[in-house]
Amino acid sequence: MTNPLDWIKSEIDELVEQGQFRTRRIRESPHASGMVQIDGKPLVDFGANDYLGLSSDHRLVNAVKQNAGYLGWGSGASPILHGRGTLHARLERDLANFEQTEAALLFSTGFAANVGVITSLVGRGDVIFSDEKNHASLIDGCRLSQAKTVVYRHNDIQHLEQELIATGSNGRKLIVSDGLFSMDGDLALVDRLADLRDRYGAMLMVDEAHATGIFGTHGRGAAEHFSVEDRVDVRVSTLSKAIGCHGGFVSGSQALIDWIANNARAYIFSTAMPDPACAAAIAALEIINLDPAAGRQLLLKAERVRAALQEIGFNTGKSESQIIPVILKDNNRTMEIHRQLKEEGYYVPGIRPPAVPKGQSLLRISLNTRHTDKMIDGLIKCLCKLFSLPGQFESPSAALSDS
Ligand SMILES: Cc1ncc(COP(=O)(O)O)c(C=O)c1O
Repeated sequence: MTNPLDWIKSEIDELVEQGQFRTRRIRESPHASGMVQIDGKPLVDFGANDYLGLSSDHRLVNAVKQNAGYLGWGSGASPILHGRGTLHARLERDLANFEQTEAALLFSTGFAANVGVITSLVGRGDVIFSDEKNHASLIDGCRLSQAKTVVYRHNDIQHLEQELIATGSNGRKLIVSDGLFSMDGDLALVDRLADLRDRYGAMLMVDEAHATGIFGTHGRGAAEHFSVEDRVDVRVSTLSKAIGCHGGFVSGSQALIDWIANNARAYIFSTAMPDPACAAAIAALEIINLDPAAGRQLLLKAERVRAALQEIGFNTGKSESQIIPVILKDNNRTMEIHRQLKEEGYYVPGIRPPAVPKGQSLLRISLNTRHTDKMIDGLIKCLCKLFSLPGQFESPSAALSDS
């Protein structure tokens, strides 16, 4: 008898041939101090989204220890059934205060938040307008909602407006966009999206996953950066990137949050995040509130790195943030450079389809506050060496000597 799973082998062979098979690596160390160990080798880590270096901050670790000692770890049930504790309630209040909204709601991940929120807001007979470069979790939320999804060209406001005009639906309309695009590092034009929201009576949802803690005077993200927070109806974000923890959340009006809590299946039918993880996020928000300029300083650092890469001749696309792509286009070449960088002591993920469109493969440099100038100089010089470009190469061990 043939094995019903035999088809998988040939599918995998095809992925390997196309340079799209993903090997799952084991991270053998924390990624504190901008370093990580993979395959027994210490590497300067440009792969994590721990932008403010908070994931290993002792204040977060202590918050977890103190609360885990008393509360244990697992929350035991869905937040509706009885998994929502005092720390969940406190964190939701703190998130609402941070976001300056009436209320906030926690999900177990940012992915779940996006899926849960979209499916609560629209359904059959409604229309979603979605940027073509939106994150997979937004795309899956659109698919699951069963609303018609119109994909507009990346950041093309004119195209979006044409589609809004052409779609004469009587149902609800939802415009949805990443605030900061996760692979290209460019911002959505949230102010212009807000104008279209006003003009066409559409709801506007922005996923601030990569912008929270970084953009805006208080670190509230792209909507704050463009001063349109009052016109972004639904703000989703994650605790897993600049906030250095785990979990996702949505913030907005009390009515919006009550509606989502009553409708989002990803909220109602999924175990609440662990109580001590809430304590870590509460501590992280306090740190960000005390020093909201940390994100801006990271952006200044990113500006210098981008300028240096561009001067050498690398294509960094439209990046305007701490996420800096080096666009190489070809899958196999991208993965080969990723491998060579690793040999030299640097971890820079190679990104291939479907995370980016075909022919747009890239190295994704993710900067954080723990990267020293030496680490960054070392990476740039290493890239010069690998591409035989001018620029004196400095070995990573020298690059790390004072880090
Ligand atoms: C833009 C965007 N939204 C949502 C998510 C999902 O967040 P989480 O990792 O908390 O599930 C990610 C994570 O990679 C993301 O990049």
